[in-house]
Amino acid sequence: MIHPLDIIIRKRDGAELTKAEIEQFIAAVVQSGENSEQANVTPAQIAAFLMAVFQRGMSRRELADLTAAMRFSGETFDTSALHTFTVDKHSTGGVGDKTSLLIAPMIAAAGIERTPSISVPMISGRSLGHTGGTLDKLETIPGFNTQLPLNRMTEVLRSTHAVLVGQTPRLVPADRILYGMRDHTGTVESPFLICASIMSKKLAEDLRGLVLDVKIGSGAFMPTYEASKFLAELMVSTGELAGTRTVALLTMMNEPLGRFSGNWLEIWECVDIMQGKRHPMSADLIELSNILSGWMLYFANKVTTPEEGASLANRLLESGVAYQSWLSIVEAQGGDTSVFENPAAFHKPEASRVFRAHRAGFLAGMDCKKVGWAVQRLGAGRNKPGDPVSAHAGLQSHAKIGQKMGEGDPLFTLYGDSEAQLDEATAMLAETVNISDTLPATLPLVHEIVLG
Ligand code: URA
Repeated sequence: MIHPLDIIIRKRDGAELTKAEIEQFIAAVVQSGENSEQANVTPAQIAAFLMAVFQRGMSRRELADLTAAMRFSGETFDTSALHTFTVDKHSTGGVGDKTSLLIAPMIAAAGIERTPSISVPMISGRSLGHTGGTLDKLETIPGFNTQLPLNRMTEVLRSTHAVLVGQTPRLVPADRILYGMRDHTGTVESPFLICASIMSKKLAEDLRGLVLDVKIGSGAFMPTYEASKFLAELMVSTGELAGTRTVALLTMMNEPLGRFSGNWLEIWECVDIMQGKRHPMSADLIELSNILSGWMLYFANKVTTPEEGASLANRLLESGVAYQSWLSIVEAQGGDTSVFENPAAFHKPEASRVFRAHRAGFLAGMDCKKVGWAVQRLGAGRNKPGDPVSAHAGLQSHAKIGQKMGEGDPLFTLYGDSEAQLDEATAMLAETVNISDTLPATLPLVHEIVLG
């Protein structure tokens, strides 16, 4: 038995920790969550360990061992009985980023339609800060249950090839403790701790392939391009070392993705697309969803290149089979699919307002993070875990960067629960929208691809 203090001191002094040391420390962390009296590690020591990792970083081997120790710290999903290629995608979070809602049914449709079989066991998160969360969006569908136990998840996967759920209380308990502690110790931003946190939860889904959408630009979680790229490289090497084929795409998040940002609004946009109603403002969302799906289909050996995968994904979307899969998934999870017959009629915000261009010119840019905070202030997001969210609050985008605007043209429609919320969000948007006389450079949606 190695004393936790020795592990902390070794990390503090820059030594490379052994697998046994890391496993022992994480086991003690989990024990502290179950029974703090008997635990071998104190909260102060956990905090010190996190700060030592923050300062010293980790080798790729240490990071893979930390991720594995966290992944196996509680129950894990076992998909071996399904005899299927399990694949998922994860995004570092964005504004209006609803690709999961299109990708899960598209891949499920491909999994049902042709051999080899594919399944998407998608464990998603909730909105926090300026970014949205898949679970909050799904829960606007009456009856939709995101809290399924693992055995029920397996049943849904067997019948529909995709399941969209939240983390169970016993899945990766080490992350819950470490994440909570990071918040209070100034260690949230460590790319090593972010990587272990994200990858331990994704790998606990028992994946054979994983596609990571790492955002860059003003709405990204990481502060710089270099930081996003470094995180992407860490996550790819950690996935590959765990035996999961992993790719990361560095994708642009400098304006809301698609047409709507907000919980029900984003379901509505995806249902429209799956029903074949493609609004021009949704073009970037469709393109990114196809590209990410293309990589998933490529990993699953459905196609010979990711580009061929993107074309197949688009055909599944256009032909309506992805929509049939969507209906099956929603029904299997208890949701009422009748609301998709007229999604616009189900949208019932208390208040709305149009935000207009203050001058003529080209829409040159915006601070996308600020736009995300405006969506949160409208009621669609939360400040802290557990806060309620509004189903109908959010933002409709009427223009994309580079578009020519006349003075007074609509830029956004705001939806909220009160006029006060609209006032606050309007003031935030007024600070961030930039209209200029010159056409801004066109930036590609996918900037770089990081492979193992
Ligand atoms: N998402 C996670 O799950 N963990 C982090 O540390 C950051 C983002």
